[in-house]
Amino acid sequence: MQTKKLCLTLAIETSCDETSAAVLLNGRQVLANVISSQIPLHQKYGGVVPEIASRKHIENVLPVIDEALQEAGVTLADIDVIGVTYGPGLVGALLVGVAAAKTLAYASDKPLVAVNHLEGHIFANFISHPELEPPFAALVVSGGHTSLVHVKDYNSFSLLGQTVDDAAGEAFDKVARVLKLPYPGGPHIDRLAKEGNGQAIAFPRALAQKNSMNFSFSGLKSAVLNYLNSAMQKGETIVAADVAASFQSAVVDVLVIKAMQACEICQSKKLVLAGGVAANSALKKALAEECRERGYEFFYPEPVLCTDNAAMIASRAHYQYREGLVAELDLNAVPSLKLIDANLAD
Ligand code: KG4
Ligand code: ZN
Repeated sequence: MQTKKLCLTLAIETSCDETSAAVLLNGRQVLANVISSQIPLHQKYGGVVPEIASRKHIENVLPVIDEALQEAGVTLADIDVIGVTYGPGLVGALLVGVAAAKTLAYASDKPLVAVNHLEGHIFANFISHPELEPPFAALVVSGGHTSLVHVKDYNSFSLLGQTVDDAAGEAFDKVARVLKLPYPGGPHIDRLAKEGNGQAIAFPRALAQKNSMNFSFSGLKSAVLNYLNSAMQKGETIVAADVAASFQSAVVDVLVIKAMQACEICQSKKLVLAGGVAANSALKKALAEECRERGYEFFYPEPVLCTDNAAMIASRAHYQYREGLVAELDLNAVPSLKLIDANLAD
């Protein structure tokens, strides 16, 4: 499919607890990226409550789309293509965005593009780094996923490995919860760890040296719980900052080792970091150092584009549209969509 020189994409993201709409020019220039976060609403439950999330998305989705169009200074008539996250995520939450996008596409007779949320996270980097081009190796670390991906071209990926149990962000959130830090815990652990000693407690580094591209974080989470229970039983003082720093070091060590292995497998001198945990300062620092030593280029998105947002979905949608990868109006949400599912070439 031929796209005109200037291509405006409107995208909608409702996979979890952020209702977001964005307008992008040519897949890389953000004209608007409105994010309505439900975090304060879910905080008192210590995590996302799916039913509340869906209901809030229904309330928010149209005002957020209106705000994005207004902020971009365009109307629906100016839009060339409508992108939407159709998975993975919470089914009720995804359905709200999918229904809104299908309705807009039908009513305005615009093409619809179905976006895989995980691919969207990777594409956040094309917005933050206008010079970035595939191929490269990508580490996607979010609340729901931890994956290593070979991005061969804009529409060609292969999955190198992923977590066999908890995602990295999930481990951050669970450990934060036992340390009585608010939800989502990742940013709080990040902050607290700066005051602690990362070598204080020797937590396990699962699968670190094995010749596998997969991750496992549930053992680490259990090790932190066991440490805290045993210290409490013995009446020992728990230094929360040391626990946070030692836990974070264990996660970061494994992610760095595997990311470097992924670069070697892909024969890539470019590493791209993506997903909510890409906002972690220790992870960025460790990857930057390792990449510098090896002469690799290292890319990560600006903080607002690390966590869930529709700008990254619009970028992904643009590159799918350019290749004619449009969806039908019977599109459905796919809550357990895999990274590889949506791709045509390997
Ligand atoms: O990508 P995202 O917004 O949602 C999913 O697609 O899952 O990621 C959210 C996750 C949460 O687990 C949150 O705790 C984590 O990203 N996170 C962080 C940081 N900021 C967000 N984890 C560690 N350090 C951070 N600074
Ligand atoms: Zn996400």
